[in-house]
Amino acid sequence: MATPKKVLLLHYSQTGQLDSLAAHFVQPLQAAEGIEVETVRLEPQTPYPFPWPFWRFFDTFPETVHLQPQPIRTPVFRHERYDLVILAYTVWFLSPAQPITAFLQSPQAAVLRDTPVLTLIGCRNMWLMAQETVKELLRQNGARLVDNVVKIDACSSAASFITTPLWMLSGRKKGASWLPEAGIALSELVDGARFGARVRDCLLTQDTIDAPMLTGMGAVKVNERLIFSEKAAKRSFWLWGRLLMACGRISPVLRRGVLALYIAFLITLILTVVPVSAVVKKLLSPWLKERIAAQKAYFSQPSGE
Ligand SMILES: Cc1cc2nc3c(=O)[nH]c(=O)nc-3n(C[C@H](O)[C@H](O)[C@H](O)COP(=O)(O)O)c2cc1C
Repeated sequence: MATPKKVLLLHYSQTGQLDSLAAHFVQPLQAAEGIEVETVRLEPQTPYPFPWPFWRFFDTFPETVHLQPQPIRTPVFRHERYDLVILAYTVWFLSPAQPITAFLQSPQAAVLRDTPVLTLIGCRNMWLMAQETVKELLRQNGARLVDNVVKIDACSSAASFITTPLWMLSGRKKGASWLPEAGIALSELVDGARFGARVRDCLLTQDTIDAPMLTGMGAVKVNERLIFSEKAAKRSFWLWGRLLMACGRISPVLRRGVLALYIAFLITLILTVVPVSAVVKKLLSPWLKERIAAQKAYFSQPSGE
């Protein structure tokens, strides 16, 4: 009998939402004879709080964006090499969640060398910049990104701007009776199995995974309206994050004061600049059409829409 194909699933989830997506995804692989799935949960040495206290939530962004995560417990793997690694992650402040960054910076990330990696993202709806960071960290580890699957919150962008932070800060998915529920729809979590089934078929019929497996399946959907906002917000997080870390080195009180200022600045920005820039972009769209199409194609790689 042929040796089974080895798949490693690495994941970190706070509420269990991403765990559920990953579980549906790997279910067809686990059920297949000839595929062995090893699941490793990345564990922070000190767990992050959930729900998040208000200040702690916002105060996490400088180190998250500057890729200076809290340490994780050393993950232990049964094998040195795998036929496929599935990296399931959530997005924090347009960056990978800290435990994922900590893993990708650790010596244990050597398991990724020369190995096909599939990223599986479950987040509110802004994942483009985080995936750019993950791509770079994978490249530094000598890994090959072959596919990317993304599932986002069910409600509209405007609604989830309120519902997701409320969920994170209160622990309640339905923050108020007049608000839609936060999070990814159950049907979308279950849909993970459709991609898992294709991956299973590829693993069982191919010697090695060299090319995307999930093209033409709607693995990702790039929201073109968010490309500019994500780039601008990432830049703002980066600059203010640097300033906040410098303030913290002088005094924690100074860091807290500047953070309060930034939160006020951010809310004003979102309520004014974002709607205005959306209108301007709409007006300019006939001229920007080709550029936007090229950007959409770029961000939808490697699996495509
Ligand atoms: C600190 C923090 C920052 C977040 N920032 C983003 C973000 O920038 N973009 C986004 O789409 N979702 C963001 N989210 C939502 C998460 O990606 C994710 O949907 C949520 O945390 C639930 O994931 P879980 O499976 O870990 O519970 C953030 C969540 C947290 C806790």
